[in-house]
Amino acid sequence: MAVHHFAQAQAINPVLANAFRAIRAADPRATTGALYASPDDLLRQVDLPEFSTLIKFIVASLNATAQQANAAAWPAGRHGLELELIGVWFQIQNGDAFHDVHTHGNCSWSGVYYVQLDTPEQRSAHPKLGALNGATRFYSPMFMLQGGAYVDRGNAWMQQSTLDVTPQEGDLVLFPSFLPHKAMPYSGERDRIIVSFNAQIRAPGGDDLLLRYAGV
Ligand SMILES: [Fe+2]
Repeated sequence: MAVHHFAQAQAINPVLANAFRAIRAADPRATTGALYASPDDLLRQVDLPEFSTLIKFIVASLNATAQQANAAAWPAGRHGLELELIGVWFQIQNGDAFHDVHTHGNCSWSGVYYVQLDTPEQRSAHPKLGALNGATRFYSPMFMLQGGAYVDRGNAWMQQSTLDVTPQEGDLVLFPSFLPHKAMPYSGERDRIIVSFNAQIRAPGGDDLLLRYAGV
């Protein structure tokens, strides 16, 4: 996993938030509920320079993190690989709404970019939700191994099997797509607005079948 921060967030996020509100307002399928998720074709729907700047930042961050994670598996480095964002969408959340535990399919890397939400100080002042207000919780694969598992001090390190990311506006969190995660309940003065995406990284020609990475 990796966390990056978008240096231009302060200038660009309000423009994105307005655009996303407009898309929601124009969506005939949208409900007035506390959680709205857009279609995942924002790359086709949004034609704004601010959005393009964000996408460039996301792609550069993905490339850097994937290269770091695959340092031993990509003998020739990043050269020649193609990164494709195969889905980009946004969510708007408030009123204690949450997005339950899920994974993302058909991709190797996924991520979430925080466009707008109250400050950590404001969020943690919430009487019921506290510091987890608006957090994103990630579940280690070890989480599922702990039912009935042997436990002593020797594997105490396994017992902390969740990671709570307490985001700020402009943060970008990248994670392997198989990793289960949950948008914890959020209640704030301002809506929690995020951009989510899925990415594939392939050799030209799309021939990345198992054990055929050599020579990339
Ligand atoms: Fe997700």
